Amino acid sequence: MVKLGLNIDHVATLRNARGGVEPKLEDAARVALGMGVESIVTHLRHDRRHIKDADVERLCKLFPGRIHLECAATPEMERVAIKYKPASVCLVPEFEGERTTRGGLNLNAANTSRIKKIIANLHKQNIAVSLFINPVAADVRTAKNTGADIVELCTAQYSEAKNKKEQAALLEDLAVCSILARELGLKVHAGHGLGYSNAAAVAGLDGMECLNIGFAVIAKSVFIGLAGAVLEMLELIRK
Ligand code: PXP
Repeated sequence: MVKLGLNIDHVATLRNARGGVEPKLEDAARVALGMGVESIVTHLRHDRRHIKDADVERLCKLFPGRIHLECAATPEMERVAIKYKPASVCLVPEFEGERTTRGGLNLNAANTSRIKKIIANLHKQNIAVSLFINPVAADVRTAKNTGADIVELCTAQYSEAKNKKEQAALLEDLAVCSILARELGLKVHAGHGLGYSNAAAVAGLDGMECLNIGFAVIAKSVFIGLAGAVLEMLELIRK
């Protein structure tokens, strides 16, 4: 059964709007985990625009083994991960001024060698590592060579497809990479931009283990509550 990782960054966005402590991230995490979500996903950005260091610390303490931390492949973020020990880390590209993550990692030789070292250091702390990559076979192979445990296939392009034909072609790229990753012994996740109309097809791909979804679920929760929004997504991806 395909699992759901719920990204709760936008609960923090709402909290930060008034500078207080409500809505609490731990309340969102409790509701989501209670509904059957596998992991709680948070992205600690350099600009700390939503999740703060203290949030990562608190969430890791309250929900050991359930926090999946997204962060850039930098020495600063490596130190944060080693300090707070999430269950897993997903290394993502990060660019100043971007509204959200725009695509997978650039796995050129220099980046790959940096990422390899970070992975080795995180493994020493028993932290599993995922690489957020574009659905390209060469990147799946490179990810395997870095020692990563998981690849998260970027679904941003798929989610923004202009028509059914383009969407089908992009889904095929995800399908090929999912199978390849599984054959190479990697766990397969996917995410970014997925919502109630397009997540089920990705969940149905051979090898797919977990979808990491945030915005669509948190947005729906404004109208029907978080438990209902999570349940609706779980039902869709488990079918
Ligand atoms: N996966 C990764 C690697 C991400 O960076 C994000 C956004 O933080 C997500 C999944 C979730 O994306 P969305 O909020 O569009 O569902």
